[in-house]
Amino acid sequence: MKKRTLVNHPPETSPPPGNLPVIAPIYQSVKYEFESVDDTLRMLRGETPGYFYMRASNPTTRQLELTLAQLQGRDDCLATASGVNAIAQTLLGLTKQGDHILCFVETYGPTRNIIRRLLARFGVEYTMVSIDDMAGIENVLATRPTRLVIFESPTNPITKVADIERLVEVAHRHGALAVMDNTFAGFHQHGEYDIDLFVHSLTKYASGTGDVMGGAVIGRRDLIEGLRPDFAVLGALLDPHAAFLVQRGLKTYFVRYSEQTKSAQAIAEHLVKHPAVSKVHYPGLPGHPQAALAKKQMREAGTVVSFDLRSGSEAARQFSERLKLFALTASLGSTESLVMAPQLIGTRDFTPEQARQSGIAAGTVRLSIGLEDIDDLIGDIDQALG
Ligand SMILES: Cc1ncc(COP(=O)(O)O)c(C=O)c1O
Repeated sequence: MKKRTLVNHPPETSPPPGNLPVIAPIYQSVKYEFESVDDTLRMLRGETPGYFYMRASNPTTRQLELTLAQLQGRDDCLATASGVNAIAQTLLGLTKQGDHILCFVETYGPTRNIIRRLLARFGVEYTMVSIDDMAGIENVLATRPTRLVIFESPTNPITKVADIERLVEVAHRHGALAVMDNTFAGFHQHGEYDIDLFVHSLTKYASGTGDVMGGAVIGRRDLIEGLRPDFAVLGALLDPHAAFLVQRGLKTYFVRYSEQTKSAQAIAEHLVKHPAVSKVHYPGLPGHPQAALAKKQMREAGTVVSFDLRSGSEAARQFSERLKLFALTASLGSTESLVMAPQLIGTRDFTPEQARQSGIAAGTVRLSIGLEDIDDLIGDIDQALG
């Protein structure tokens, strides 16, 4: 072999059987080869296991998918390039022209945009009501054939808690699929409910360190198998390098989620007592409007604490700018604490009635609590409130 050939066919160094690496390597290869055409065809027909092309599947991303499916208590998973990609692909894959979707005023903004702008171009219709309005939900589903209901719990940023059991029962009774964006609650929660498909942003708690993006769709095998061909042709799969980073982040997922939830609980209890604060939105507080439901549904109340400042929008802007340990930015679930001011939360696309239903006030601020020392975080909040 000449050297020019050698660099394209380097020596084989795979570990021998019985000598596997403790951490699975990143399979940074686009192609997987076979001994024969027949072997290739058998694999492509699904008769033998294996991989062919990175865009369809690869061992690193597959390891993450299987881990996430087990964490959420379902059969299978598709890992995607971002959380919104998981949502968009799921909605595109499940609907066709003339179908109807039920979504909510409290639904994550980009999800509402996907439904209203992208899906509308393909003739998919929607109705939007408040997640608080159970009678309205029943009424829509009873009067309009609906392909799917997509919802979140707790909602962003007001942390309203959806009655999952009731919502799923009503959806199924009227022949609709229940799709839940479980990003806020995480993979270890809500698995016991009869939700058909979970979508997640892996950008948040899964990786935890805020340095990688990803998304996931998790559910019954038949539904995931139905979505898989569209995912492959649209090139949505998470790449192996990002999958490796998310898999690495998952090792500390449970510890991070619990520790950050403990701090969020302490901060919510602290804010309740502060004279500048008129309302605190946190499912772990006894004063939360659905505290009993949250206790029944959730093992842990999560790391997002929102609250309303009495003096409104300008005070909230100043508060978020004066925090020193909280980064003024988007996202949640990172090990560093984050703050979003009302001017960033925004309800610009809402009618006045929808803005009222959303529960977002002029002085609403959203905090995502990280892993910093709790005394430092409370000290920072107090100096900014002061
Ligand atoms: C509830 C929820 N779903 C989905 C997403 C989208 O995730 P990504 O940023 O990974 O696209 C977010 C991001 O903030 C979110 O908060």
